[in-house]
Amino acid sequence: MSDSTFYVTTPIYYVNDAPHIGHGYTTVMGDIITRWHRQRGENVWYLTGTDEHGQKVLRKADANGVSPQEWVDKLVEEEWKPLLKTLDIANDDFIRTTEQRHEDGSKAFWQDLFDRDAVYKGSFSGYYSVGAEEFVGDDDVVDGEGDDEGFKVSKLDGSRVEHMTEDNYFFRLSDYQQKLLDFYDANPGFIQPESVRNELISFVSRGLRDLSISRSTFDWGIDVPWDDKHVMYVWIEALLNYVTAAGYGVDDERYQELWPANIHIVGKDIARFHAVIWPAMLMAAGQPVPHQVFAHGWILVGGQKMSKSKANGIRPDEIVDTFGSDAYRYYFASALTFGSDGSISWEDIHARYHAELANGFGNLASRVAAMIGKYAGGALPAAGTTTAAEQKVIDLVAAAVADADAAIDAVAPQDALTAVWRIVDELNGYITEQAPWKVAKDDPQSDRLATILATAAEGLRVLAVVLNPVIPKAAAVLWDSLGAEPALGALSEQRIAGVAAWGQLPTGSTITKPSSLFPRIETASE
Ligand code: MSP
Repeated sequence: MSDSTFYVTTPIYYVNDAPHIGHGYTTVMGDIITRWHRQRGENVWYLTGTDEHGQKVLRKADANGVSPQEWVDKLVEEEWKPLLKTLDIANDDFIRTTEQRHEDGSKAFWQDLFDRDAVYKGSFSGYYSVGAEEFVGDDDVVDGEGDDEGFKVSKLDGSRVEHMTEDNYFFRLSDYQQKLLDFYDANPGFIQPESVRNELISFVSRGLRDLSISRSTFDWGIDVPWDDKHVMYVWIEALLNYVTAAGYGVDDERYQELWPANIHIVGKDIARFHAVIWPAMLMAAGQPVPHQVFAHGWILVGGQKMSKSKANGIRPDEIVDTFGSDAYRYYFASALTFGSDGSISWEDIHARYHAELANGFGNLASRVAAMIGKYAGGALPAAGTTTAAEQKVIDLVAAAVADADAAIDAVAPQDALTAVWRIVDELNGYITEQAPWKVAKDDPQSDRLATILATAAEGLRVLAVVLNPVIPKAAAVLWDSLGAEPALGALSEQRIAGVAAWGQLPTGSTITKPSSLFPRIETASE
């Protein structure tokens, strides 16, 4: 088995509706992590996509008077694919579960499960939540209140449940309790963060029941390969996207290259599917299990989990239209701790945009370029003698880059950005303390002035590289303003590991003032 590609996935999103910033969050965080790894020179594969079958989507299409295929085609083309552009996502693949490759791979996987006796036919009688597309145990069903008066609801997420009795195929999940516990024990990093790991270990320790994995009362799904009266239960089919996109059962060479995935990034609502059911299915099919399932927390708006059904769902473009995609990406990565719940607000985005991006970083870039223009005619001067002040900058940059790199390995982009911002703060402090404008007044040709300007520009070079995974548009503008090609080469080719090596900006590079990286935004509310 080859494991040479760093393979990262997002959940595939239900296309019952348009995306909101909760979906955007997962996708952006995966993008930042994969862009960072790519800039280390690793082979990376970043997969996202859409989950198009199941009753939830079917009912939504019915309610809109169109066929489910028409519904999903329209939503994917008009909403879900454009989201990737809006958020500047560099995904390598996009899988739709209505694609032929997914149907072929899913059928191959099911056949393997059947051939290995992991599946049997039975009958199911119990509760099902269409909202969560999930079977709900009797113990987890209560009488609804308020708007849900007269209905039964799931204790797990408050969604309404329906009673159903159907012939179904079952997966022998109960066989995997001990195997999973042993696996978690041997692979402590498999479920992260720790809180989710502990919760799932205690869930599995309480015992696992066999799982109904097919449906026979509607047909919006993929046929069970040996019995076309059944379609695959949507979750069991959806999880397979991670292997079908990698070529399972269809393109073995590609599959060997990509599988197993390195990180499945998911919201904590669906950690159980990914870290209990999914590894059990893979074990049953004799396939390797992914390295990690990382479950992030909720985005809270006004203290509540943001969701479309609560009418507090915010569309990503509402934020991007005002602040731009870079600021969107930066905000979600830096203001929230990946793995915990976190509140966001328009005021907070506005405040951080100005304090951190416009004043902290953007001003630094334009100030340095303006000074090189004014004092050195726009050509990078050769640095003279390095003093303790420069050495402090050089040492801090090296340490901050190493810390940021380690934070990405710990799946903590917020810590990576904290480390990178130490460079922004250090350079701003350095310029204030060294006051090049005073040095220039005394002697515009001095060695000292050249050293200060070259040090500040070199610091900006490092910032452009390490910020490229987070704010690619601004990083590219900064890169160009530093003289970029051919002296510096392409930004995407700059390796994070080598970036802290000092003195890579060639003397004489043409430095131009970048167009305003983060212009001030007047409106504070909306
Ligand atoms: N289709 C399933 C996933 C199948 S994966 C094999 C699904 N889709 S979903 O459209 O409901 O998307 C759920 C994911 O969206 C969550 O796991 C999370 O990544 C993201 N989020 C949705 N609402 C969110 C918040 N309020 N906050 C943070 N993330 C949120 O479940």
